[in-house]
Amino acid sequence: KLPDPGVASKRVAREIGALIRQRASENRNCVLGLATGSTPIRVYRELVRMHREEGLSFHNVITFNLDEYFPIKPNAAQSYVRFMNEQLFDHIDIVRTNVHIPNGTIELEAVPGYCRDYDELIATTGGIDLQLLGIGRTGHIGFNEPGATQDTRTRLVKLDNLTRLDAVKDFGGMDHVPLLAITMGVDSILQSHRIRLLAFGEHKADIVQRAIEGTMTSAIPASFLQSHRDVQYLLDDAAAECLS
Ligand code: F6R
Repeated sequence: KLPDPGVASKRVAREIGALIRQRASENRNCVLGLATGSTPIRVYRELVRMHREEGLSFHNVITFNLDEYFPIKPNAAQSYVRFMNEQLFDHIDIVRTNVHIPNGTIELEAVPGYCRDYDELIATTGGIDLQLLGIGRTGHIGFNEPGATQDTRTRLVKLDNLTRLDAVKDFGGMDHVPLLAITMGVDSILQSHRIRLLAFGEHKADIVQRAIEGTMTSAIPASFLQSHRDVQYLLDDAAAECLS
């Protein structure tokens, strides 16, 4: 538990920066799993600052984003491609071909093969060194909504109604919110070497408590993180309020 989102975000950004530098000194790549949404924005801001002011280079960094709406054009205001470019990639020296975000424009028939390739590509890089996560009010990680089992891999999923409601502000009306998304699966996420989940605000307090202290259940996919050996939950006071 940390006093506020700023402190928590800086802590994760410092950990990521240290990992990137350590790998660079060994001439190795650093593979990051990235999330979108309001929660990680401060982490990205801090990473950009470290790039500008402290010479942190991303030349050895490979990234995989958790999810993307489906279908969606990359230049749409709500697309996660656009989000990541605006929040991070446009401001750092990452090699563009090292950036991977699920493609919201592929043909429906091509989706299963595409998703298999996404998981395989992660594996061929050596796996994700550090996965950044947020948590949805449904208990989702990525877009693994209630019902997602521990063995799920990257796939096309239906968004939960509560998740779609939370997205109305971005899409300007429920009718415009996509019904589907491509997401890394619970198992894809659990393969990561380190997992850092950030949650801020009182609206996350109840689900955070159930995810951390409740039993592991596909009713709350984030609860499966309890089975991982290197997971940290970075919470502000408000999000930690219901923990015993
Ligand atoms: C985003 C993602 C989602 C969000 C979650 C919380 O890539 O995978 O699981 O992390 O919906 O969203 P915010 O941070 O907007 O509360």
